[in-house]
Amino acid sequence: MKGQAAVTPESEVASDDTFLLDGQPYCPQSEWHLMLNKPSGILTAARDRRALTVMDLLPDHYTRVRCMPVGRLDKDTEGLLLLTSNGELAHRLLAPKRGIVKVYQARVLGCLDADDVAAFSQGISLNDFTALPTRLTIQYAQQDQSLAVVELTEGKHRQVRRMFGSRGHEVISLTRLAFGPLTLDPGLAPGCFRVLTAQEADRLKEAVNLV
Ligand code: URA
Repeated sequence: MKGQAAVTPESEVASDDTFLLDGQPYCPQSEWHLMLNKPSGILTAARDRRALTVMDLLPDHYTRVRCMPVGRLDKDTEGLLLLTSNGELAHRLLAPKRGIVKVYQARVLGCLDADDVAAFSQGISLNDFTALPTRLTIQYAQQDQSLAVVELTEGKHRQVRRMFGSRGHEVISLTRLAFGPLTLDPGLAPGCFRVLTAQEADRLKEAVNLV
C-alpha cells in the first residue's frame, strides 16, 4: 500500500514499509520513561486492591508496556518518581555501587543546627545500619520548624525520616527534588506526569553507563 494512508487497523503492510505520521517518519517506541510528581497518600506499587497506587495515576497504556517505578517513595513522600519500561536501567539506577544521588527536601520539627549538619556528614548510626556520610543543607531553622535539603546515595527503608528522627527531629513533610541528573519539573503539579525527553533519557543512561 505504498503512498496510501493507513486509516483502518487491518491495513496490510510489509516489513520493509516505512511509516509517516503527520509527514514525519514514525518509529514505534520500544521503551518508555516517565517523571511523576508523586503526591502524598499514594502507594509506590504496581497495583493494590485497597489503596491507590502510582499506577492508578497513569493511563493503562503504561501498565501494558510494563513501565514500573524505579525504587519506592513512602506513602507520605511527595516528588520525583521515575518510571521506566527498561528493567536494566531501573536496576542500575538503584544499584548501591553506582552511588546515584537522590536529593530530598525535608520539613522537620525543631531547630536544625550545625551539630545536625556535622552528624549527617559523619554518618548517622541507625538500629540496623550506619548511613553513609551525607550533606545536609539547612534552608531555614526556626524554634519550632526547619527546612533542609539532604543528599543520599543509599535508599534504605524510610532512611531520611529515620536519620532526622535519630537527631530528635520528626519529619513532617518530605519531597524528592532530584534523582541522578534529573530534577523535578516545576511545571508538574502533584499527581501529574510527563514522558522524559530523549535528552533526559540519555542523561539517565549515561549516569549508569548504559549507552
Ligand atoms: N527516605 C524516606 O524516609 N522516605 C522516602 O520516601 C525516601 C527516602
